[in-house]
Amino acid sequence: MPSRAELLRELRLRVGDAAVLDAPPAELLTDQRGLYQGAVAAVVAPQSTAQVASLLAYCHEQRISVVPQGGNTGYCGGATPDASGSQLLLLLSGLKAIRAVDPDNYSLTAEAGCILATIKQAAAAAQRYFPLALGSEGSCQLGGNLSTNAGGLNVLRYGMTRDLVLGLEVVLADGRVLDTLRALRKDNTGYDIKSLFIGAEGTLGVITAATLKLLPQPLASATAFVAIPSPAQAVALLARLRAVSGERVASFELIPRIAIELTTRLIAGVADPLDDSSPWYLLVELTSSAADEQLNACLDQALEAAMNAGEISNASVAQNERQRSDFWRLRESIPAAQRRAGASLKHDVSLPITALPRFVAVASAWVAQHVPEGYLVAYGHVGDGNLHFNITASGAGEALLRRQAEIKRVIHDLVHEMHGSFSAEHGIGQLKLEELERYTDPVELELMRTLKQAFDPRGILNPGKVLRNAK
Ligand code: MLT
Ligand code: ZN
Repeated sequence: MPSRAELLRELRLRVGDAAVLDAPPAELLTDQRGLYQGAVAAVVAPQSTAQVASLLAYCHEQRISVVPQGGNTGYCGGATPDASGSQLLLLLSGLKAIRAVDPDNYSLTAEAGCILATIKQAAAAAQRYFPLALGSEGSCQLGGNLSTNAGGLNVLRYGMTRDLVLGLEVVLADGRVLDTLRALRKDNTGYDIKSLFIGAEGTLGVITAATLKLLPQPLASATAFVAIPSPAQAVALLARLRAVSGERVASFELIPRIAIELTTRLIAGVADPLDDSSPWYLLVELTSSAADEQLNACLDQALEAAMNAGEISNASVAQNERQRSDFWRLRESIPAAQRRAGASLKHDVSLPITALPRFVAVASAWVAQHVPEGYLVAYGHVGDGNLHFNITASGAGEALLRRQAEIKRVIHDLVHEMHGSFSAEHGIGQLKLEELERYTDPVELELMRTLKQAFDPRGILNPGKVLRNAK
């Protein structure tokens, strides 16, 4: 390891004085939930792929660990350096060009530091749609979306980030640049190497750009806020909606009563969409790229049938864009409201949707009986079988946080028994290393370690994330 003065001199030579931050802002050294506090040898903000390549070549030679960071909106500490003070924090925010938009090929190439909302706007300016939809889209960056294989609010219809990628540009551990930026829908040319970097959280390479799929813009939508007695009726309503509208169901979100109480109390401008109280709700949205499609009629038909069958107790269909965005504001404010309400434990689980009602019943009963230190705020993308089974502290939080390991063990063991996943869309980072080891098929884990060794033999890329450091 070079001395700090030597390191800074070399970094400045490679990326210029302005791109080397002497005193890093504190918020870069912690994750947004405040779970981890890191320290760094230096922070660099390169402006091009060539600069990232030059930095990695140097770090590889000197065996300096590199932690890539995008918008720092992750939940698992994947972008936070360790506490040693020996790592280099690599900000991708300087790589922010939209390199190409090809509306007729329905594709767009953007650099890793582009804010997700900017990519969506660039697509819209060409009358196209980039469907990835996240609460944090105003600040999260494409590189982070790709590295965590982000999910979000539209997965039911359009898939996860991985499903939206045609090609990637990646800087490898030793500084070589892998260029698979091909805007092709069909390309069966051996192993799908690019796919390995998606969801790898910067442990196999640093993604610097991507060619993304675009879709026709949704020109019609129908949105409803629906009251249901229990999650079982969510499964029934989704089946009804699919029967009448097929793939037009774009979002299908489960919301518990407590989330209405938290958001209306803690977030300005959020109102309860229905006048009577219900234990559970759904936010449902159908979209179509045909402007004249009668989506409200489809929605009304499914809701009426569900009402007659006693599956739903009330519903409000948005009459205009204002009402629609009010429904969404409530849904998207849940994480912020939960943060304001106090400390919380997050469990980002997924199950086959048919198993969700039983999971919610069993796990909720366990929390009610065994966790007096907190209360359940379970919500999420039920159409994808993905639930944020979060527990918020009733009091100051220390008592709940002290029991974190024991509580997550019970919940994740139950998920595992029911053939689900302990990490649906938030990734592993440094938060879920133990779970990955406990629940992943041993052969799969072995292959992951083999890949890490092959791609990063010196272990300099985001060490201690996804996989524990090799001994
Ligand atoms: C969301 O869907 O709002 C987030 O992914 C979940 C969370 O904040 O726990
Ligand atoms: Zn989510």
